[in-house]
Formats: sequence, structure tokens, C-alpha cells
Amino acid sequence: MNLLVISAKEKTRRTLRNFFNNKNFEVFWTKRLGEAEVELKQRIFQVIVLDVWEFSEEISEFINRTKSLFPKVKFIHITNFQTSVEIIGLANHFHSRVLVDPFSQTELEEIFEDFLPIVLTENNEQNSEDDFDFNGIIGNSGSMKRVFSLIQKVSQNDTTVLIRGASGTGKELIASAIHKLSHRKENLFLPVNCGALTETLLESELFGHEKGSFTGAISKKIGKFEEAEDGTIFLDEIGDISAAMQVKLLRVLQQREITRVGGSGVIPVNARVIAATNKNLEKEIQEGTFREDLFYRLNVFPIRLPQLSQRKDDIPILVRHFAKRFSKGEITFSEEAIQGLQSYHFPGNIRELENIIERTLILCDGKEVKFENLPANIKSIAEAEMNSGYVSSFEKDLLLKAIEKANGNKSTAAKLLGISTKTLYSMLEKIEISMN
Ligand SMILES: Nc1ncnc2c1ncn2[C@@H]1O[C@H](COP(=O)(O)OP(=O)(O)OP(=O)(O)O)[C@@H](O)[C@H]1O
Ligand SMILES: [Mg+2]
Repeated sequence: MNLLVISAKEKTRRTLRNFFNNKNFEVFWTKRLGEAEVELKQRIFQVIVLDVWEFSEEISEFINRTKSLFPKVKFIHITNFQTSVEIIGLANHFHSRVLVDPFSQTELEEIFEDFLPIVLTENNEQNSEDDFDFNGIIGNSGSMKRVFSLIQKVSQNDTTVLIRGASGTGKELIASAIHKLSHRKENLFLPVNCGALTETLLESELFGHEKGSFTGAISKKIGKFEEAEDGTIFLDEIGDISAAMQVKLLRVLQQREITRVGGSGVIPVNARVIAATNKNLEKEIQEGTFREDLFYRLNVFPIRLPQLSQRKDDIPILVRHFAKRFSKGEITFSEEAIQGLQSYHFPGNIRELENIIERTLILCDGKEVKFENLPANIKSIAEAEMNSGYVSSFEKDLLLKAIEKANGNKSTAAKLLGISTKTLYSMLEKIEISMN
């Protein structure tokens, strides 16, 4: 906890120093408001001790300004009897506390006893929202922090990005974050679901068409590549496009120009391309269903999103995030409910977790979702895990972390853990049993 002292009085400073001795606070000492303003620009403070011996406009402005910038900061005012009336008026307004000099260590102790629990809970709340929130993407696990750093880096240029990850892992969210952090943010971010359209429709969706170019083309249409000028086009489900479309897309990526369906002229494109897939493209290449040259054009900067089951540490903050969003901060999840959710493996990843939270909140009558309010299948998995002596949750965590570290390679993971690959497989099998 960061604490800022603003006091030029040696006596006050001495009393405070004695009091803070042996306490686990990070204390920053300043003598004047100007110095305090400098400190306030550098870090977040939870408590400010302000020595006010003479009330002034400057002091009142300082308090007002600080409170509007940091609404959660708690003030303790040390004052003398004469000034106390004005200070108490201001303090009441901001729920601050006042100490009239001379004061005892016990009075100081009492104030901190009152303040600390509030400060600590507020701090935790702040963490769950701000520290773990990277442009709307929630995550605090090592694997997500790596993803955040990749997003940060790649957003600074126009490189083509290929986002890989299972269904519901946040591919579109990540693509849109890259766009929002890039110099293209003022222009359009246009997602195209390449898997949902027939070949003809996809071609016209991407490249546009001239009037009468095919049955149903009653007027000219501008394609997404043209529309996303100076912006970003997001080619979702890229693994699903036909062989003919692959050739056309390859040409666009190589030449940076398109031709509208039924048109003859070439139109330059400068849209930034981000593609995503949940398919194993390497396997598709081997099987001859995906072009290797297109893969390399797309895979300039790959970002792989981990499954939620590989980063269960993120479940509590995700649960709090979604609960807050869906219930507008009115309903929370109990620790037991969160632990119950952590024992589930979420094949549908974050989308599934999001849906479960939304549904559970609708069914919840009180202010808190308890373990018994969780969906029946999750409860029974959690109970089975609690009762199963097979693999403890600690071992399971370790196992999943090792696999994540080994990029999914099971024999490397076994080496990391110092166990045989056979043992690793048998432990995994037991986890599967407790999950199903
Ligand atoms: N890290 C995250 N923090 C907060 N919300 C997330 C996160 N990841 C995903 N979501 C949410 O989960 C849902 C699914 O994410 P998204 O649509 O980006 O996944 P996807 O990988 O594109 O899935 P699919 O393959 O099914 O299209 C969205 O509502 C998204 O906002
Ligand atoms: Mg998607």
C-alpha cells in the first residue's frame, strides 16, 4: 500500500515515522503540496496524510483535484483546533478522517484499523478490473501476458497476423485489439466470416462486384478489402476457404490489389490483414487442402491462443469480470462457486464460460452465486474431483502448466516434470475421467 505524507512539521513527521515503523506501508514523504503533486503523477496512493495548519483555497483545491483524479484515495488530515472546523466540513464531504493535534498513537491506530480493510478490498477490486485488463482482454496467466506483449508489438506495424486458437479462445477480440492499438484505429475494422459464405458470395464480399456480374448482382458492390481502406480486414475461419479462393487470396496478398467480380481493372488495397483459424493448417497442408504458399503469406506473425483449460488461473478474474458486466456489479460469485468452475475444463473456452456466467446470473435470486447454483454438470465434475484420489488439483495444475510450457509436446512436458511419458499419459487419462 502506498501512503503519501504531506507535512513540513518535524513533530508530525516524527510521530508518523514512529507509527509507520514496522508497518508494511510504502511511505513517501513530502513537505509541500507542489512536491506532493509530483509524487501523485508517478504512482497511485491509497492514503494521503495531509498536515493542515492553516486552511486555504490552495489546500481545498488540492483536495478536490486529487479526489476527482483518484476517487478511492483516503485522506487523513492532521490539524489544530482553530483550523479543524473548516477541515472537518471538507472531510465529511469526502469521508476523510481528521486528527486534531495533539493526538495519540492509539487515535492514529484506530483510523488505520478503520481504513485498512476498505483500502484493501478496493485495491483488490481495482486489480481485477484494471491490472488484468489489457484493452478489454482479461488475463493474468503467463501465457496471456505473452499474448499481450505480442499484440503490443505487432500493433505498431502493418504485418499480416495469423491468430490460431480453439473455438471461443478470443481470436476476434485479439484481432480487434490489434486494430485498436494500431495507427489505423480511426478507420474500419471489418470482420469477414470466410467459413459462412459460399465461394461466389465470399468472393463478392471480399472483392466486390460490378453490376450484372452474376445472377443477383443487381447493382455494383464495394468489397470488404476496398471498404477497409487504411483500416483492418479480419479474415475469420480462413482454414475453411475453397482451393479457388485460396489462389485468389494469395494473389491479393502478393500483389496488394484486387479485381471486382465481373470487373477488369485492378484496385490497389492497403487494408491490414489479420486472419484466424481454429484448424490445424499444417495438417491441412500435408493433406493437400490448404496451400502452403498462402499459409506462409498469412503466418508472418503467428499468435497462438491457449485453451482456457491451460490457464485456469485466469478463471477467477474472468468470472468476476463477466459477473460484473452482466449483473452491473450487483451479483458476485462465492469463492466455492469460482473453485467449482475452475475444476471444469471448458471445451468451449471463454465463450462457454461467458455463457455459463450469464445463465447462472439470470437464475440467481440473491446477491451471491453459491456452489449449489452452478450448472449440474459442473457441480458433479467438481464434486468428483474433490472426492477423487487420482490426481490432485495441484498435480493437475503442474501437469497442464508443463504441457503449456512445452507448447503441447507431451514428451517434452514429461521431461520437464521428471516423469516418464507413460506416467504423464496415464495422469492425463485420469484427469479426463474426472472431467467427463
Ligand atoms: N481474454 C478475454 N477476456 C474477456 N473476454 C473474452 C476473452 N477472450 C474471449 N472473450 C469473450 O469470449 C467470447 C468469444 O471470443 P471470440 O469471439 O473472440 O472467440 P473466437 O476465438 O473468435 O471464437 P470462435 O472460434 O468460436 O469464433 C467473446 O464474447 C469475447 O468477448
Ligand atoms: Mg471468432
